[in-house]
Amino acid sequence: MCGIIGYIGSRNAVPILINGLKRLEYRGYDSAGISFLKNNKIGVRRCAGKIKDLELYIKKEKIVSHVGIGHTRWATHGKPTESNAHPHRAGGIVVVHNGIIENYFELKEGMKKKGQVFTSDTDTEVICHLILTYTQKGYDLEKATKEALKHVEGAYAIGVMNEFEPDKILAVKNDSPLVLGLGKGEHFIASDIPAFLKYTRDVIILENGDMATLTTEGISIFNLKKSKTVKQKVEKISWTPTMAEKGGYKHFMLKEIFEQPRAIADTIRGRFSLEKGTVNLKEFSLRESMLKKLNKIFLVACGTSWHAAMVGKYIIEDMVRVPCEVDIASEFRYRQPIVPRGSLMIVITQSGETADTLAAQREAKRLGAKVLSICNVVGSTSAREADGVFYTHSGPEIGVASTKAFTTQLTALYLFSIALAKAKEKLGAKEIKALFHELLLLPEKVEKALQCDDAVKKIARKYHRAQDFLYLGRGINYPIALEGALKLKEISYIHAEGYPAGEMKHGPIALIDHNLPVLALAPDDNVLEKILSNMEEVKSRGGKLIAVAHEGSSKVRSRVSNVLSMPETNYYLTPIIFSIPLHLLAYYIAVLRKCNVDQPRNLAKSVTVE
Ligand code: F6R
Repeated sequence: MCGIIGYIGSRNAVPILINGLKRLEYRGYDSAGISFLKNNKIGVRRCAGKIKDLELYIKKEKIVSHVGIGHTRWATHGKPTESNAHPHRAGGIVVVHNGIIENYFELKEGMKKKGQVFTSDTDTEVICHLILTYTQKGYDLEKATKEALKHVEGAYAIGVMNEFEPDKILAVKNDSPLVLGLGKGEHFIASDIPAFLKYTRDVIILENGDMATLTTEGISIFNLKKSKTVKQKVEKISWTPTMAEKGGYKHFMLKEIFEQPRAIADTIRGRFSLEKGTVNLKEFSLRESMLKKLNKIFLVACGTSWHAAMVGKYIIEDMVRVPCEVDIASEFRYRQPIVPRGSLMIVITQSGETADTLAAQREAKRLGAKVLSICNVVGSTSAREADGVFYTHSGPEIGVASTKAFTTQLTALYLFSIALAKAKEKLGAKEIKALFHELLLLPEKVEKALQCDDAVKKIARKYHRAQDFLYLGRGINYPIALEGALKLKEISYIHAEGYPAGEMKHGPIALIDHNLPVLALAPDDNVLEKILSNMEEVKSRGGKLIAVAHEGSSKVRSRVSNVLSMPETNYYLTPIIFSIPLHLLAYYIAVLRKCNVDQPRNLAKSVTVE
């Protein structure tokens, strides 16, 4: 939550900061601001609202500066007002911050008693005052920041400037993401790589405790925890700037839905050998001997990634018969879980920075489990702290509602399950080959599934005024019902519930009347007959039935007029195909309701606070 950007170099910093903030807006978008150095004075411009409001606000001034920092906020402490927007200032010190200072209240009260005046309700402002206290003692910015942070508890990524040391930016990382970009005679700080991808692909991913000093000449990094200068590891990022653009689509969400054939193809490329019938375990730092011994798996995540975890349990238990427990990360971390030694935790996270997921991952490690992270962001905290990483190569996901990250997570879980089944000798070579074959056909089938676009639009037009929606699924597609409901809720603000269809009679059936659209996931699988009965129950109570079914499924077609037809796949891959019309439906309904699809209210893409 919250996005940070900083620039120092020979170009005008202001458009670079604004452009960077636009790329980071998915992290928070209730207020924004920049600070810059001009004529040896620091200027701060902030406003409530989105980056375009900030852009409009500063447009007339035509500010030119070669160094600056910026911030887009998702409020935690204090309302989204101008005074609470970042950068915050005390004397000549300005700070942008992502994270939460847990002991800010005590620090603030103490400083207030000494006469320091605070102008915001934020936790961040204490950092400015603390640094100022030390610069007033004659310390340079690095030393003052180092001393200041000794008082601070919590998670933070900060960018700092000092009016009296005009040619540098300081960046410090502790439990919130922060990366540096290296250009020629120019350097960047940012919460996420797309913020400066237009200018450079050379990146340093900061470690906890790293304090980086950026000047036009270079970057030096001192680790506050290790008390020593650290070597910089520069990584070349393969993402291209166009990957972080809308590419002609109206919204990132729609672009990302239509990118899925490519994203899935990239996620499977080079990951297995059809001839040998093996998954390339080395790439994920996994060994077959370790998988062979595995008797228990925990799958932990939040939100949409948690739905992927639920599907993972269905795949692993059905294919390999290894017991799995699925947890929402915020529950796992506090529920005193029983984690037998030698268990594996699979954490699933697009961003790799979700605070609860990271805490659950750390808890599992503390209890002696190995951790495999299924993650989309290279070098993210989850990836770095895990014992093994399965990167989903879906490319940057900018739309707040996760789509392509979700289906590539499911793809990763499918491959992992095959590897586990092979290690445990649960599948023969022929069966493994058949599973790989089906996987190779998946991008094409996803392409085909996307052809339901027009049919989905029609359904969206019919039901976009509904006040409630019900999604029903069974078995491996029950989590997809939850996913459909979550997407609709978060981007269209329609109340929606996902239910295992068998639970209908235990309560939710009371909701059904002629105003309620009910979407049933009815693939041709072992529970088709069961869900058909549930659909009859909906129909006989006047509910408006929509079904997603396999093409040629006459049993569904004879019962329902609104049917979205999906291509056939094996059982394990149906959730990928069946999630496509649900994501599209949420999208088109949200558009018809004139909602801000890419930036739904109250949400942020990376939930880096608890
Ligand atoms: C919903 C959505 C969220 C995320 C959740 C976890 O569309 O995107 O529910 O799935 O916040 O985020 P990651 O996967 O980054 O840990």
